[in-house]
Amino acid sequence: MNAMLRPADTFPGLVTRDGARWHYLDSAATAQKPQSVIDAVARALGPDYATVHRGLYARSAAMTTAYEAARRSVATLIGGREDELVFTKGATEAINLVAQSWGVAHLRPGDRVLLSQLEHHSNIVPWQLIRERTGIVIDVCPLTADGLIDCDAAERMLTPAHKLVAFAHVSNVLGSVLDVPRAVALAHRVGAKILIDGCQAVARLPVDVAALGCDFYAFSAHKLYGPTGIGALWARADLLAAMPPWQGGGSMIDRVSFAESTWAPAPQRFEAGTPAIAEALGFAVAADFVRHAGLARIHAHESALVAQTRDALGRINAVRLYGPADSAGIVGFTLDGVHPHDLGTILDEENVAIRAGHHCAQPLMAHLGLPATARASFGLYNTDSDIAALVRGIERTLRIFA
Ligand SMILES: Cc1ncc(COP(=O)(O)O)c(C=O)c1O
Repeated sequence: MNAMLRPADTFPGLVTRDGARWHYLDSAATAQKPQSVIDAVARALGPDYATVHRGLYARSAAMTTAYEAARRSVATLIGGREDELVFTKGATEAINLVAQSWGVAHLRPGDRVLLSQLEHHSNIVPWQLIRERTGIVIDVCPLTADGLIDCDAAERMLTPAHKLVAFAHVSNVLGSVLDVPRAVALAHRVGAKILIDGCQAVARLPVDVAALGCDFYAFSAHKLYGPTGIGALWARADLLAAMPPWQGGGSMIDRVSFAESTWAPAPQRFEAGTPAIAEALGFAVAADFVRHAGLARIHAHESALVAQTRDALGRINAVRLYGPADSAGIVGFTLDGVHPHDLGTILDEENVAIRAGHHCAQPLMAHLGLPATARASFGLYNTDSDIAALVRGIERTLRIFA
């Protein structure tokens, strides 16, 4: 029994079609779902199903209450308030929302945005789209030798022309953890806002946006043991209140006429159309699930798995490890003479699932001088047996390629 899990915490996705244990080491791509989340979504789509914010009948009123309670629950998980939390399709949409709304309203030609070399494409491309519209300049903060965003370099690079810093809290390739309070202090010192891409952090570390001091925090439910199709943007209330809408439609308005329309207050102003109702309820159950497990405990569990994996892989001559020793839940590596895709395919035969490729971080791959890496990433359900299966699979791969 995994000490992280209660007897009631079952994950139907962790079993293969033959009933064997699936050694799932791809939680950084998407986490498997506890039965409680699956049940919550099924209930919301089944006996409890109704629309929100519109219906006058009792079930719709109950669903509206549940939907808004879900917002409160998700906001609380990261130390935020419900009026500061916008439901989005995921982290990607959350970052695009900031770019298209706050960015278009505030960025002028010649203004600068600081990103880092390790960002996911979701925190690069939205800013390139805004560069085309506004004429901003994008700067790229380098990494330290062990793959951390180099805050000393950021300090040297930042100027009053910088209006935004947008950094990942945890790298999806290297697992490196940003010193967020330092990055926040550096950004604020030059008057810039700071967006943190928390996609890989929320399921791995205790996060408290108020204590971190950031301006925007973006994440997805599906990496937090919740459903796909929903995520969140947390933004400081004063910033959110001043941001213009970025998509128009139902739900986000106050009054509409052909002459002009006026907007609902935030966060509704940013949720045009019928929302992802069942997914929001599943998101809240996922937030409760990690709250009960305890993010400090999850972090300690995954850190122990990372240390054990790095130690075991470090004993294999052909393995090259990337990222810092204290990475959060993610181990990036390559095998000399074996393409990561070949490794991934052979491991699949052993019921071991890893990710191999550029991980939607091509600028980081270019920096590493690699076309691809292999990545083992953990969730709270992983145990020693998953690491043992990974090591066996790597040894078999090396025998095949020898
Ligand atoms: C660091 C990071 N940022 C952003 C994203 C995008 O998340 P989503 O595809 O759920 O919107 C991911 C997903 O892999 C990620 O790892």
